[in-house]
Amino acid sequence: MPNHIQHVVVPGTFDPVTLGHVDVIDRARHLFPQVTVAVAESRSKRGVGTTFSLDERVDMLKAALDEQGVSALGGIRVMPFCGLLVDFCREQGAGGVVKGLRAMTDFEYELQQADLNAHLAPDIESVYVMSSPGFGYVSSSAVREISSLGGDVSKMVPACVAARLAEHNKR
Ligand code: PNS
Repeated sequence: MPNHIQHVVVPGTFDPVTLGHVDVIDRARHLFPQVTVAVAESRSKRGVGTTFSLDERVDMLKAALDEQGVSALGGIRVMPFCGLLVDFCREQGAGGVVKGLRAMTDFEYELQQADLNAHLAPDIESVYVMSSPGFGYVSSSAVREISSLGGDVSKMVPACVAARLAEHNKR
């Protein structure tokens, strides 16, 4: 009998969570019975700090999943993490990582991440879902920039996140 994966991690910085992220988490939950959304402590990609604190990003994710009806599916939890993603997966007993792929620009970075993670932990599978139509160009950085310049991000983020961004821009 094949050993089916029961539990996956959906990792990210989520600074802040977008509707694209919510879509990936929702789809991961439809593919696997248990999903842990792992919020990375800081952005290691370019060594730059985050706009929202780890606690704020975890809180926004929980509120977004509630608002969008994804929490109601059950089997989903949100946790902060630091260190290596594969170590976190092992600690949590997850057998795979699910991430979203948007344009080709994501591909090279994600291929490198999947390759490094496979090198570190060959037993942990990397699974990618293609972004749903309409979310291909939604990113946390675009949302932060548009929002800080007074643009409308209501089609890109859950309403609770749009409210937090508006509050943040007043600070
Ligand atoms: O939302 P992001 O910025 O695309 O998320 C990137 C994240 C947090 C998934 C990635 O940076 C990550 O896995 N960080 C943990 C450190 C790690 O395990 N790196 C991969 C092997 S070099």
